[in-house]
Amino acid sequence: PAKSAWRDKGVGQWLRFHGVNGLNVYGSGSGHIDGRGQSWWGNGENSGPTALSFSSCNNLQVNGLKHTNSQRNHISINNCKGATISKLTILAPQSSPNTDGIDISASTNLRIQHSIMATGDDCIAINGGTSNVRINDIACGPGHGISIGSLGKNGRHEEVEDIQVWNCTFRETQNGVRIKTWAGGSGFAKNISFSNINFIKSDNPVIIDQLYCPHTECSDKASAVKISDVKYIGLRGTSVSKKSSIEFRCSKAAPCSNIVLDDIDIKPALPNISNSAQCIHAHGIARACVHPVVNCLQK
Ligand SMILES: *[C@@H]1O[C@H](CO)[C@@H](O)[C@H](O)[C@H]1NC(C)=O
Ligand SMILES: *[C@@H]1O[C@H](CO)[C@@H](O)[C@H](O)[C@H]1NC(C)=O
Ligand SMILES: *[C@@H]1O[C@H](CO)[C@@H](O)[C@H](O)[C@H]1NC(C)=O
Repeated sequence: PAKSAWRDKGVGQWLRFHGVNGLNVYGSGSGHIDGRGQSWWGNGENSGPTALSFSSCNNLQVNGLKHTNSQRNHISINNCKGATISKLTILAPQSSPNTDGIDISASTNLRIQHSIMATGDDCIAINGGTSNVRINDIACGPGHGISIGSLGKNGRHEEVEDIQVWNCTFRETQNGVRIKTWAGGSGFAKNISFSNINFIKSDNPVIIDQLYCPHTECSDKASAVKISDVKYIGLRGTSVSKKSSIEFRCSKAAPCSNIVLDDIDIKPALPNISNSAQCIHAHGIARACVHPVVNCLQK
């Protein structure tokens, strides 16, 4: 139903599964969940419900469904152990606010693979309390890319570890692979790898932003969510960014450490733009064959 027909507009979820073990949701390639969410999409912030939510569901499988035009985010996975999500197609207009593809929080042992995601926000967002997530063969874009975070909002302590993303394509995305944490939080994001990634005209292909604070004045907070052991291997393609296609913005209080770049080739998408790499308080190494040149990492 349209927003006007919802009796409780703050309900949070449209389709919700809670506390189910061994649940399999199979769409066989023809199942279609259509949120018809247009009536929830105003300008900017969107208070709509999650279209499909799984919470406290262990050993979950979701396969072969098409998800379109969710009211807010398409799928959320919270407090689940063991899930395989594959062969999904998730579509919403680039301009639809907060229509993330898959949001993950407080979960472990997840596999997300062989899916197409084109939405108005993140294709996949990985939030606090999450570990051991493997993501491969995702065609993302348009949208905001694959994000870890934002972590540490309002001073929270959050932890994310053991994340692998490989063999993915980002087409005309606002970001590509991003890790963002709020200034003033605590905890960590560590042991993360992005490999064999293709960018086609992405705006910000590679970002770490440890000083995220979009709506307020960024104060020089003493604490930060620590980011370490992040590998980027075999990243190639083009960027439309007019400044940096690789950006590591880390905090003085908890600098990023052990960032590794290997076999990177990201070219400007147009002849009249040039992009570079920027590092602030980022430590690590750039191995051979890294373009743009990343000589700003500290030893
Ligand atoms: C890093 O994460 C991967 C899984 O993504 C895991 O297999 C590996 O053991 C982790 N390494 C360390 C040092 O924890
Ligand atoms: C994954 O890798 C295969 C083989 O290199 C390639 O054909 C395919 O396009 C890749 N998938 C994505 C989403 O990049
Ligand atoms: C680069 O050229 C394109 C057309 O080829 C133009 O639309 C764009 O505004 C130019 N960008 C800059 C930064 O000059």
